Amino acid sequence: MLITWFTRPRTRGRRRADSRSRSADTDRDRSRACPKPRFPRASPTAHTAAMSDTTPTPRPWSPTHGDPYRPVPHRPERIAPEESLARAARLRERMDERRTVRAFSPDPVPEQVVRDAIACAATAPSGAHQQPWTFALVKDPGVRRRIREAAEHEEKVSYDGRLGEEWLAALRPLGTDAVKAHMTDAPALIVVFQQRYWLGEDGTKRKHYYGDESVGIAVGMLLTALHLSGLAALIHTPSPMRFLGEVLDRPENEKAFAVIPVGYPADDCEVPDLVRKSLEQVLVEI
Ligand SMILES: Cc1cc2nc3c(=O)[nH]c(=O)nc-3n(C[C@H](O)[C@H](O)[C@H](O)COP(=O)(O)O)c2cc1C
Repeated sequence: MLITWFTRPRTRGRRRADSRSRSADTDRDRSRACPKPRFPRASPTAHTAAMSDTTPTPRPWSPTHGDPYRPVPHRPERIAPEESLARAARLRERMDERRTVRAFSPDPVPEQVVRDAIACAATAPSGAHQQPWTFALVKDPGVRRRIREAAEHEEKVSYDGRLGEEWLAALRPLGTDAVKAHMTDAPALIVVFQQRYWLGEDGTKRKHYYGDESVGIAVGMLLTALHLSGLAALIHTPSPMRFLGEVLDRPENEKAFAVIPVGYPADDCEVPDLVRKSLEQVLVEI
């Protein structure tokens, strides 16, 4: 009974109350309107639970453009308010410790931690669930050097005047310049690409909705995951970034969004003495 109730999204409250009295005809109509999925139904938590060995592999993603609505139950365990408060306070504290690092140690990092952080980022919400992102994990020192050379070439033009006085003044407190040693010092670079549109194997193109917002959220989750996993990162946006697609040979529908060096801070790492806005300065309660 409950399963059929879940197939009626627009009348949830009312249907649940009278679901016992539904006629067989109503159920038949419903199954016609909402046909069986083409894939075996994954449990709602399968994509996360599948990280362990005991659960089945989740079904692979394939485009759903134009598919009918197929609901599945979602019943996450509700945690007690006291526990929520404790978790929120701890998370707030941990996130306040995050700093953008620009001086990296060359020490290697556990690669699986980086892959897991990328997997976390890929759970981000996205416009129409189009997941318009690609993460290129660049470990090869030769490729990192080519990226650094191209980035420093662009950054030199920028710092020598392209940015303009107002932008340069905004950057001054950060102590940045055109030298981008982090691109070769950090043991890994994550280059995030935004898929401007979906490109099928046969050349079909489909519009992506809210691509900027979606990739921005995913990058925020990536930085959070890296930080909470004990790694340091920098979100670097050399401008223009076209060279990244060329060096990494990405398809025409992808444009570079950011380069994220990942690693451990150098022993002598320093960061600018910045002040964050207080909660009172950023929160308006209505
Ligand atoms: C969209 C975006 C682009 C950024 N681009 C650069 C960059 O190109 N180079 C750089 O050194 N830092 C860059 N940053 C990092 C910011 O300068 C940094 O987040 C800010 O100064 C606050 O410092 P914190 O991250 O330590 O709190 C960027 C941050 C964001 C969100």
